Amino acid sequence: MPYNKDDKRRQLLGCLSRRLAYTAPALALAVGGVVALQATAGDAVSQAGKLAMTELSEETFLLASTHAEGGAEAEAEAEGEAEGEAEGEAEGEAEGDVSDVQRPEGYSPAYSEEGDNEAELLARGEELYYDTTLSSNGLSCASCHGSDGNDQGYAATFEQPFPHQVAMAENQFGMAQVHADEMVQICMVAPMAAEPLEWGGDKLTSLAAYMVEVQRRFAGEPHDL
Ligand code: HEC
Repeated sequence: MPYNKDDKRRQLLGCLSRRLAYTAPALALAVGGVVALQATAGDAVSQAGKLAMTELSEETFLLASTHAEGGAEAEAEAEGEAEGEAEGEAEGEAEGDVSDVQRPEGYSPAYSEEGDNEAELLARGEELYYDTTLSSNGLSCASCHGSDGNDQGYAATFEQPFPHQVAMAENQFGMAQVHADEMVQICMVAPMAAEPLEWGGDKLTSLAAYMVEVQRRFAGEPHDL
């Protein structure tokens, strides 16, 4: 079967929306709307699609963090109190614990944010990017950010080299700017609803090194992927 980017994209979004339907029925409707919009829009308005994906990701993020907060809230949502919950979150109840995601004292990263990381490290990072076992909700990084190099779910801030400002880091963790490893940790604890990775460990190091190259690809710069 010839490779079709559009189909792949639809398939991914479809898959994501099914995941959402599973984790939080209340908000799945709203997200479904975005997916439908994107599926009909096609490549002609890929910019609009990118925007929709950002919105989709925001929804997903709220969802995932609600989910992570525990059964009681998830149940309340399922019973139809989604609106109240969502408002509560918007007012800051979803604030994450910055100590989970900020480089700890005495830590020095084992990857370079300037690039030139070993091919082996990048390959391991790419493998983990597709690994759904990293999350507690069945998602992989690629579920939200695309596969085969069609980088999705990133805002325009991603065109800047690390460290840089990212809306989610600022809004949810009060961090003015983030390094690649910190951003990986944020996506681990928030949308992936998982524990942060070990600082300096093989997983965080290789994912961060991989993200440094994905950032370059996203910005249209020469990269090692
Ligand atoms: C459920 C969807 C979801 C999943 C899964 C997810 N992310 Fe994200 N990611 C987001 C959202 C939403 C943002 C925030 C965009 C913003 O605020 O600009 C984001 C932002 C990022 C950024 C920052 C982009 C920038 O502007 O610098 C990086 C890097 C990133 N994610 C990497 C990852 C990695 C690595 C994983 C897997 C460990 C992952 N993400 C999993 C939704 C997701």
